[in-house]
Amino acid sequence: MEIGIDKIGFYAPHLFLDMNKLAVERNVEPAKFTIGIGQEKMAVPPITQDSVTLAANAALNILDEEDQEKIDVVLFGTETGIDHSKSGAVYVHRLLGINPNARAVEVKQACYGATAAIQMAKGHIALNPESRVLVLGSDIARYGLNTGGEATQGAGAVAMIISAEPRVMAFEGPSAYLTDDIMDFWRPVYSDKAMVDGKFSNEQYISFFSKVWEQYKKKTDLTLADFEAICFHLPYTKMGKKALRAVIDETSEAVQERLMENYQVSTQYNRNVGNIYTGSLYLSLLSLLEEKAELAEGSLVGLFSYGSGAVGEFFAGRLQPNYRKHLFTEQHQELFVSRKEISVEEYEEIFEETLPSDGRSIELDIHEDPAAICLSGIKEHSRQYINKQ
Ligand code: CAA
Repeated sequence: MEIGIDKIGFYAPHLFLDMNKLAVERNVEPAKFTIGIGQEKMAVPPITQDSVTLAANAALNILDEEDQEKIDVVLFGTETGIDHSKSGAVYVHRLLGINPNARAVEVKQACYGATAAIQMAKGHIALNPESRVLVLGSDIARYGLNTGGEATQGAGAVAMIISAEPRVMAFEGPSAYLTDDIMDFWRPVYSDKAMVDGKFSNEQYISFFSKVWEQYKKKTDLTLADFEAICFHLPYTKMGKKALRAVIDETSEAVQERLMENYQVSTQYNRNVGNIYTGSLYLSLLSLLEEKAELAEGSLVGLFSYGSGAVGEFFAGRLQPNYRKHLFTEQHQELFVSRKEISVEEYEEIFEETLPSDGRSIELDIHEDPAAICLSGIKEHSRQYINKQ
């Protein structure tokens, strides 16, 4: 039985900041952000978007009635959870009108959460071939104003339906994975901003990739030449390139050229959104599939997932016949063109505007936010969500 991605959708908030303008304001050469780090635009979430609304908006337009009925597991990968106890998956389950006889759970291991969810989904579908699993990766990356990580912030979500007989990509072969208890990036429960040892996190990312790649080659006898493209978790678009460079010498020049060229394509969406943590690898896959018109059906695509702390995994999927027909390319391109640019001053104001931390109720103005699903306030300690559709 083949198991894989049947549908894949994406959502980012409607506001963005131009990285050139942020650089000028921070007295940094713009080329450091656009070339050195590799980011052009950063998605900025208004207060009316949180990890639940981003995830629900990403899934909303890819689900049909049959999906609502057949999805029996909702797995919500995030490191921007809104509650220590109740999972974001339960809110999304209700907002999307999914069949009540479903499981709904949140999965956490930094940016690796959605990959863990995919692996769990595979097991569930192997036992229940008729079922469909909704996997969500949704996050808001926050490091703080004037911090080293500021240029690598972002916000957004990816939603995938995992099923048997998938129409986009079938997962193939084993995974290689690795866990090590390190402090490269983390967010203590009392902080709404991430803490990071930037240089160490870069080194660990590359080291995890090199190790799981070695392990993968031993398990499968595959080499770089077997892959049409390799997609990476992208905290910023230069990161995956550094990891790829660490191993690329082991293949021919022609394969090197192909992998580097496809790598560039796979970074297009991420370059214009920023880091979306759990969703970043799958946003990169989406970028490759939707931006590269001549990517052949039957191609093998490698996927490297990295979640600080840390867990890394390498696995692969094969593109299915006519996969292009089952993408939501137009919808995603429309999302990009309809976004609104904001100034650095507006971004800073939005960044500082946070929900009350003392349990006070609040009503939010949702009229400025064009998203279908918004956070409309907090009442008696419970978040109020609205679906305008
Ligand atoms: N023109 C072109 N390039 C320039 C330049 C210019 N004028 N000025 C600087 N650069 C280049 C530098 O040479 C450097 O390139 P290399 O990395 O290839 O050497 C690059 O721009 C970045 O410069 P610095 O290393 O000086 O940047 P920095 O110290 O300000 O920090 C960072 C960069 C460490 C990524 C920081 O943004 C950060 O801490 N980000 C958050 C952590 C992160 O994303 N880590 C990634 C791995 S962890 C992970 O993947 C999980 C996750 O999602 C967080």
